[in-house]
Amino acid sequence: MAHKIIVTGGCGYIGSHTAIELIKSGFNVVIFDDFSNSSKKTIERIYQITGTAPTLINVDLKDADETHKAFLAHYDAEGVIHFAAHKAVGESVEKPLMYYKNNLYSLLNTLESQSNLNINKFIFSSSATVYGTPETLPITEENETQRPFSPYGNTKKMAEEILDDFTKSNKSFSAISLRYFNPIGAHESGKIGELPNGIPNNLMPYITQTAAGIREKLMVYGNDYPTKDGTPIRDYIHVIDLAKAHVIAIKRLINNKQETSLEFFNLGTGIGYSVLDVIHTFESATKCKLNYEITERRDGDVPQLYASTDLAKVKLGWTATKNLEDMISSSWTWEQNLRNENN
Ligand code: WQD
Repeated sequence: MAHKIIVTGGCGYIGSHTAIELIKSGFNVVIFDDFSNSSKKTIERIYQITGTAPTLINVDLKDADETHKAFLAHYDAEGVIHFAAHKAVGESVEKPLMYYKNNLYSLLNTLESQSNLNINKFIFSSSATVYGTPETLPITEENETQRPFSPYGNTKKMAEEILDDFTKSNKSFSAISLRYFNPIGAHESGKIGELPNGIPNNLMPYITQTAAGIREKLMVYGNDYPTKDGTPIRDYIHVIDLAKAHVIAIKRLINNKQETSLEFFNLGTGIGYSVLDVIHTFESATKCKLNYEITERRDGDVPQLYASTDLAKVKLGWTATKNLEDMISSSWTWEQNLRNENN
């Protein structure tokens, strides 16, 4: 019998790519989603790509009763990969309570419901934002975590603290927190990708929307940082590489290979690219000229973030395989398909 895995937020950007990789690896996937920032059409797309449609439950994980009922229907699941969360940094500064409520209630309800049913394996969708402004680079999992700049980021840090307490109190429960650097890219089929709500905050969707003529120009937030060209450096990682790491992580828990009940892994390529690197690679990979302008720094941006990927390599046997050009080309294919299909 195939292992059943519940993927919360499985119709979202990283969740949908992970659902595909799980299905390809022989897992039985059940998606819990409330479609607050995703589309039901994703199920059809996953079916087109894999030949299997995951089971879908429309559930608001902020609601404890609804969550419990959804889990009860899948009491035989082996583990949970928890993506469901709001993720817009700027919006979280404006609406902190909405972020704390959504991201933390849903986490607490999920942990409570699953552990009541002895579904004791949990993968958490965390972020490099928990490192705040790092004092040393590359960032290893040993780097101190700091209070992140935004309420969004703080929900990730608080969630890791909740997991720390919970795994200590419940000896049969094990969890892995995956700290993503900057996920970009899309499935090579062009059928699945990021669907930003409204005006994108993040660099990649802003670039593709500008090239597609939806935005007039890209604002480059500052070129006076202490980096090679003055623009901030980030560790961009292909969403497919990221998705594959989740499959490895859940297998690690299923096979009881974890060394401690809560483990943390950075997921990045270990290579830092500046904003101008990304722009120039976009232009050369797509042959599209990008309209951009250097403006003021954006609040909360740090000059450089890139991962040490050694721990994931040694313990998970995972390394990123796709380069910046792969990431950018697939994002661009997705953007074009999105406009053609007008969804
Ligand atoms: C990258 C670089 C910007 C937009 C955020 C979150 C993090 C994670 C990923 C996940 C920066 C510059 C951007 C634009 C620009 N969140 N930029 N013009 O800030 O590294 O990380 O997204 O859910 O938690 O903090 O990513 O893509 O926003 O920015 O110049 O229009 O691009 O200043 O240097 P960031 P980003």
